[in-house]
Amino acid sequence: MNCDRIARAYRWLEYAAFGRELERRRFRYLDQVTSARCALILGDGDGRFLSRFLSRSHASVDSIDSSARMLELCRERVGNERAAYRHGDALSVPLAPSSYDLIVTHFFLDCFDSSGLGRLAARIRTAACPGALWLISEFRQPLWAAPIIRGLYLFFRVTTGLRVTRLADHRPILRAHGFSLLREETSWRGLLASELWRLS
Ligand SMILES: C[S@@+](CC[C@H](N)C(=O)[O-])C[C@H]1O[C@@H](n2cnc3c(N)ncnc32)[C@H](O)[C@@H]1O
Repeated sequence: MNCDRIARAYRWLEYAAFGRELERRRFRYLDQVTSARCALILGDGDGRFLSRFLSRSHASVDSIDSSARMLELCRERVGNERAAYRHGDALSVPLAPSSYDLIVTHFFLDCFDSSGLGRLAARIRTAACPGALWLISEFRQPLWAAPIIRGLYLFFRVTTGLRVTRLADHRPILRAHGFSLLREETSWRGLLASELWRLS
């Protein structure tokens, strides 16, 4: 997947399709993670979450994205204070063990199939401190929403080359890797979810 081509338009495409609802999902549990000291944000895109998070917390953040253009937008928006940007694949970029007390993935897990999610969860488990929180926003697929999810995957396949074609359920995979769900809230009749997990 290469989001360079859609990076600048991404925000406006999102607002056109979902209004401000994805923003509400990203920030739903923000106030419960602001005491983090060292956060890992994977696939933050243009940095809207990072910007608000840093304005509310004293954490330092590693932000990793495979799109150089997205990282550039992120850096333009947020600057370098307390944020380090790394261009790379979340499945292979080196991560120091037991380093992060907060992981953030917003509309990112949908870029992986079940096997990729398993590898990702295993890496995050190793990189996370005991008791670390994992903040997630994600799509879900109630029956009525199957055409919407198919349309989204088609859009990303055409514009970014995304190979994954179906939404995998990350929740059993996170549980299998030692994470417990603390809070969740859904909206848009179950299509969108905000979740807060903890490594036990
Ligand atoms: C659908 S966008 C989501 C962006 C943002 N988090 C949001 O809430 O809208 C997925 C982001 O993850 C990045 N990405 C996709 N696969 C990746 C991977 N394997 N490693 C790192 N970043 C990846 C993309 O470049 C993009 O910025």
